[in-house]
Amino acid sequence: MALERTLSIIKPDAVAKNVIGEIYSRFEKAGLKVVAAKMKQLSRAEAEGFYAVHRERPFFNALVEFMISGPVMIQVLQGEGAVLKNRDLMGATNPKDAAPGTIRADFADSIDANAVHGSDSLENAAIEVAYFFPATDVYAR
Ligand code: TYD
Repeated sequence: MALERTLSIIKPDAVAKNVIGEIYSRFEKAGLKVVAAKMKQLSRAEAEGFYAVHRERPFFNALVEFMISGPVMIQVLQGEGAVLKNRDLMGATNPKDAAPGTIRADFADSIDANAVHGSDSLENAAIEVAYFFPATDVYAR
């Protein structure tokens, strides 16, 4: 498996629940390294741009409102097969469908307040990492 980087966001609901450390611990135990990180209050324009692929979906406005409802914790995770590994740790989009022991099963309340974001492909990971971090702010560890 190749060394990959993926973008992870701990969403406002999980930041408010004070479980940043618990979620980071899951990344680390799975062999993923945090190679860039920042807490940020997203602007509406930033959230809309990040989720632009969903612009025509019925949940788009609610998603943007939720993502700007409080600060988020944004990180780049690096490791073998990091994209899929992070998706496995996250669990299904709807926490009702998420496997036991996944981040969403343990910390998410609903499909719209679902604790974490993770890039869904290597191609999108590169785009999403660059959306939030200049290359100089991502560290080879
Ligand atoms: P999506 O990219 O399908 O899921 P994932 O985050 O697992 O990659 O959707 C992006 C976000 O949009 C999702 O995390 C929560 C929100 N969303 C809804 O609020 N309602 C929905 O029906 C879907 C599919 C997504």
